[in-house]
Amino acid sequence: MQRIAVFASGRGSNFISLFSASQAEQYPGSIVLLVSDKADAGAVSFAKENAIETFVLDSEKAKGRLSLNEEIAFRDACLEAKVDWICLAGFMRILRGPLLEAFEGRILNIHPALLPSFPGLDSQTQAFEYGAKLAGCTVHFVDAGVDTGPIVAQRAVAVLDEDSPQDLAHRILEQEHQIYPEALARLFNETWSRQGRRIVFANRKEST
Ligand code: GRF
Repeated sequence: MQRIAVFASGRGSNFISLFSASQAEQYPGSIVLLVSDKADAGAVSFAKENAIETFVLDSEKAKGRLSLNEEIAFRDACLEAKVDWICLAGFMRILRGPLLEAFEGRILNIHPALLPSFPGLDSQTQAFEYGAKLAGCTVHFVDAGVDTGPIVAQRAVAVLDEDSPQDLAHRILEQEHQIYPEALARLFNETWSRQGRRIVFANRKEST
């Protein structure tokens, strides 16, 4: 059973979907810690209501890099909780080093766009305003860049002519809630490797 810390700064709907999935008997991971940089985040309330351990360092910064001290404190909380994997889920701050070193290759993020298109903030509106006909979401490994790590899974969503940016964001979010727990379970249950930037799952039948 893999021990997971979820990092969230906001409402926490992805955190809740990961938690719900982890409650299933066969699910190969368990959420042991919720980390946040916002004391009033919905994710923090949900964790408290559901007896999930929390580690919160309240920050006035809404975005940007964590300070070294903040990141070391988050890292130490994860090490103390004997965390195997970290899932960023609407965590609005950028990692700078200590967490990436301590949990190398074991930090994931969900991004509401089909990367490498539309990294960064407000991706759904970026895709909408660009006029993309397909949008979607991506689960990817976290590296030192912004939304640049190797891709684990993606799900596409059609952009409809009658959509508002909010409609599109809502339909992408529905897919996020499915794809993140599924991608994690695949990483935990299946054999996979990293080939350059490609994450390749090996459980496919060999063609003859
Ligand atoms: C999601 O759209 C996620 O892809 C992005 O931030 C948003 C967080 O939403 N990284 P929630 O807090 O999980 O509801």
